Amino acid sequence: PIVPVVLAGGTGTRLWPISRTARPKQFLALTGEHSLLQETLLRLSGDPRYGAPIIVTNELYRFLVAEQAQEVGIDLAHIVLEPVARNTAPAIVAASLLALAQTDETLVHVLPSDHRIKVDDAYTKALDIAQAAATDGRLVTFGIKPFEPATGFGYIEAGEALASGAHDVRRFVEKPNAEHAAEMIATGSYYWNSGMFLFQASAFLKECQKLAPEVHAAALDAVGKAVQDFDFHRLDAEAFARSPGISVDYAVFEKTALAAVVPAPIDWSDLGSWDAVWKSGSRDAHDNMEVGHVTLNAMSGSLVISEKHHVVVDGLDDVAVLASEDAIYVGRLSAAQSVGEVVKRLKADP
Ligand code: GDD
Ligand code: MG
Repeated sequence: PIVPVVLAGGTGTRLWPISRTARPKQFLALTGEHSLLQETLLRLSGDPRYGAPIIVTNELYRFLVAEQAQEVGIDLAHIVLEPVARNTAPAIVAASLLALAQTDETLVHVLPSDHRIKVDDAYTKALDIAQAAATDGRLVTFGIKPFEPATGFGYIEAGEALASGAHDVRRFVEKPNAEHAAEMIATGSYYWNSGMFLFQASAFLKECQKLAPEVHAAALDAVGKAVQDFDFHRLDAEAFARSPGISVDYAVFEKTALAAVVPAPIDWSDLGSWDAVWKSGSRDAHDNMEVGHVTLNAMSGSLVISEKHHVVVDGLDDVAVLASEDAIYVGRLSAAQSVGEVVKRLKADP
């Protein structure tokens, strides 16, 4: 079976103030009854080609992860705990090592815990192609057709078609500036990186050892000295801290010659901003989305979420009102990407 590796250690600042360091977006029920992490686990459990998932998370979130998995009745292979945040590269190395310890050769599917994906024919077909390409030794990415020069994504230039139906990757550019993003989109041969990866554990580990030896060495040592603490697999703190903090996109995918991409019309959203949440959530006849104790009058095209107080908004269009217990954000919904900048300023000068 394919071993799913779910990454659940991010802090999700772009959905402030509902998503907080103590409870980032993967643990929130933004678009339905279940949290995004739970939706991810349920999506996997419906597909017989997957084995039990490995979740890698920060030690801060250990109880949230354990409770949320239990709540939806999903048995996990491991909950791997990072003592410090070092971004996704060492997390994926550690999980791949554990996956490989279970069976000789195994495919790993790395998934973010904070995306919304619809399982449909397009998704299933993409997965079939990805599985074939990964079995051939490729490190497979999933390409989403870009519709705006977003700067928060990786961009993948697709090259020649391979026997599996996937394409060779000519270039992988992680988080370009807006100008560069627009240039790439104009060529018509670039896709957004979906943030999911499929590969043979051994092929990925070998490539990481070559391209990011410090990450590989630190994660290998941290797994070697890990301690099992009830349900939790605790990576060794001193060893893991030696890894540079770097994402897998920069550490491996920008550099490797083994990358392949499956361009696929997947119904996918990374819910990276409040307007993305609004677009993928359920809205009323006036295109308003409301969550919590909220009353709206003469409103359209707006998102209002309240975690505690009764919030009433009257006569406005295109607004985002996000009220957590201790902070309130009010802004224009269509410009809500700027929350990230505000949060940066708050962190510098609270
Ligand atoms: N375990 C663990 N540890 N997980 C982490 C860590 C960490 O230190 N940091 C982030 N994550 C988790 C996040 O919770 C999320 O589920 C996933 O890893 C991806 O991290 P993000 O921080 O959300 O990455 P990104 O959105 O900036 O960029 C990635 O995703 C884009 C698509 O949404 C890249 O892969 C881009 O290339 C891609 O386009
Ligand atoms: Mg993300």
